[in-house]
Amino acid sequence: MQTLKIAVMAGDGIGPEVTAEAVKVLEAAIDGEAKLEMVAAAIGQAGVDAAGDPLPAATSAIAREVDAILFGAAGMPGDEAIPFAMRPGASLLRLRGELGLFANFRPAFLFPELLGASTLKAEVVDGLDLMILRELTGDAYFGEPRGFGVNARGEREAFNTMRYSEPEVERIAHVAFRCARGRRRKLCSVDKANVLEVMQLWREVLSRVGAGYPDVELTHLFVDAAAMQLMRAPKQFDVIVTSNIFGDILSDAAAMLTGSIGMLPSASMGQGTFGLYEPVHGTAPDIAGRDLANPLAAILSAALMLRLSFAMDAPAARIEAAVRAVLADGLRTGDIHQPGCRRVGTRAMGDAVVGALRA
Ligand code: IPM
Ligand code: MG
Repeated sequence: MQTLKIAVMAGDGIGPEVTAEAVKVLEAAIDGEAKLEMVAAAIGQAGVDAAGDPLPAATSAIAREVDAILFGAAGMPGDEAIPFAMRPGASLLRLRGELGLFANFRPAFLFPELLGASTLKAEVVDGLDLMILRELTGDAYFGEPRGFGVNARGEREAFNTMRYSEPEVERIAHVAFRCARGRRRKLCSVDKANVLEVMQLWREVLSRVGAGYPDVELTHLFVDAAAMQLMRAPKQFDVIVTSNIFGDILSDAAAMLTGSIGMLPSASMGQGTFGLYEPVHGTAPDIAGRDLANPLAAILSAALMLRLSFAMDAPAARIEAAVRAVLADGLRTGDIHQPGCRRVGTRAMGDAVVGALRA
């Protein structure tokens, strides 16, 4: 029997609540088909409290021993004021960097049951199914030099470096073309090549790698135009590949097309099947600890984990079907609530998904 070695990093804010539901659902979906070996590891403020470091050495060590990480959220309100390395919110960035998780898949798809939940007109988003592939370990997020300084006029300044090497762009390009091949074979590369040299290199490499994938239609858009097109006619897109910072921004925008960021899972992968799976939404401190958070993004992240790290498509599909079943039953957390639906809390939503799995 297959053993699934999973690190559970619940983290901060609503992370623990939504992750607990994901674990419950995962256990129900596996239902003895594989052996689940889950180990909890502290991260974010929880890491600071446990070991004085938002990414404790023990947590890094656990990450290296498992096949996948189920991640909740990390960060505390106002933690920008803390030096970068000690900032709870930056623990996720350090983990991504340490583990070489350079490919971040952020699907945005609309459950037909939630058609009315989007702020966009139903006909604009009906049937929406796109994938944002965000490069995750380069760009201004990791580029050196960075920091604070004083300029020649004696004024305080701060700087970051937007930087990509050719191999970094090549490897994400290959992931992008392969991803498009598994979908509708359309890839849109988003850059800012009209202004930035680093993005000129990005576009050049994407085009060159694209020559090896003649069956995939490659287009290019500048990021400002891409933001506009995402709002105007999002269904024109299949796979969007973009840099770390542009992907951060566009993926939140794309999430809102689906009604709520509380619905969207993500996967961060390196070269193999090891992956970190996390809801896109973050810590949501305003609703933390109040049984108000939507656990579906975390639950769908667990499904993504079964698919991508463990090649267990059947239980993954069962989780996705169970999520649709509870939505069809009219259960809604506050973020996706509409008139006529039944408002439930985090735990009740998780219980309902487990119930649907067992039905
Ligand atoms: C995300 C988040 C992170 C990022 C933060 C929490 C550092 O916004 O995963 O999109 O900027 O990458
Ligand atoms: Mg973000």
